[in-house]
Amino acid sequence: MPDKIAIIGGTGDIGFALASRWAVAGIEVVIGSRDQGRAEEAAQRLRGIVPEANVSGAENAAAAAGSDVLLVAVPFSGLVPIYKSISEHIREDAIVIDSTVPVEASLGGKATHVFGVWEGSAAQLGLAFLPKGTKMCGAFHTLSASAVADLSRSLQGDVLTCGSKAGKAVVRELVEVIPDLRYVDAGPLENARIIEPITALLIGINSRYGIHDAGIQITGLPES
Ligand SMILES: NC(=O)c1ccc[n+]([C@@H]2O[C@H](COP(=O)([O-])OP(=O)(O)OC[C@H]3O[C@@H](n4cnc5c(N)ncnc54)[C@H](OP(=O)(O)O)[C@@H]3O)[C@@H](O)[C@H]2O)c1
Repeated sequence: MPDKIAIIGGTGDIGFALASRWAVAGIEVVIGSRDQGRAEEAAQRLRGIVPEANVSGAENAAAAAGSDVLLVAVPFSGLVPIYKSISEHIREDAIVIDSTVPVEASLGGKATHVFGVWEGSAAQLGLAFLPKGTKMCGAFHTLSASAVADLSRSLQGDVLTCGSKAGKAVVRELVEVIPDLRYVDAGPLENARIIEPITALLIGINSRYGIHDAGIQITGLPES
């Protein structure tokens, strides 16, 4: 299990919710933000929720420089500037996990539609701005932030994970410390173009059924 993770965009809904879960599991968390003050406020908020949390706040670049494992969870509209801002600060051989979904809503369109991305997916677009050798994964796209944030809940569903082999091993550990969540190896990073749009599908299902936490589960897998 990684002993530390930096969350770029960790002041936001899904980043903060995952930070809370990992803090409960005893993983040191650095909450990244474009603004030092917001990062520190979020770290303070997390300490209020998880008193034993080993958490701090930092500007995104400093957060990226200080950890071998990063989660990037920002709106698609901010993806390129964010990757540009952390690129030169990233550690050699860092593992970067991207949860960004190219939903149209991030640029004023529909939450149930996604943009086509020339590189194939948000994760592949992000990777294009990172140093060669960065181990990139896509994961956590189909979790609902409100469900993850409710620490009294165990989480149903699968985390479809694609990308670097070494990165996927780390994602697996990060998934398995969260009660009842299951890791699923979804292949190479190219498959992010299939996984990311599932979020838009789930948003539509949430709306039609009046719920907030539709998820996804693959059937037929062997027990692990
Ligand atoms: N919410 C969910 O349930 C969920 C689930 C799975 C995946 N996702 C995906 O994960 C990503 C983050 O989702 P979220 O709901 O956590 O988003 P969010 O709360 O809107 O944003 C996350 C953080 O990103 C930073 N940010 C906002 N606008 C930005 C911009 N234009 N440029 C750079 N940074 C910006 C903000 O941090 P600072 O202002 O502090 O820098 C914000 O707190 C999205 O791509 C979303 O589609 C969301």
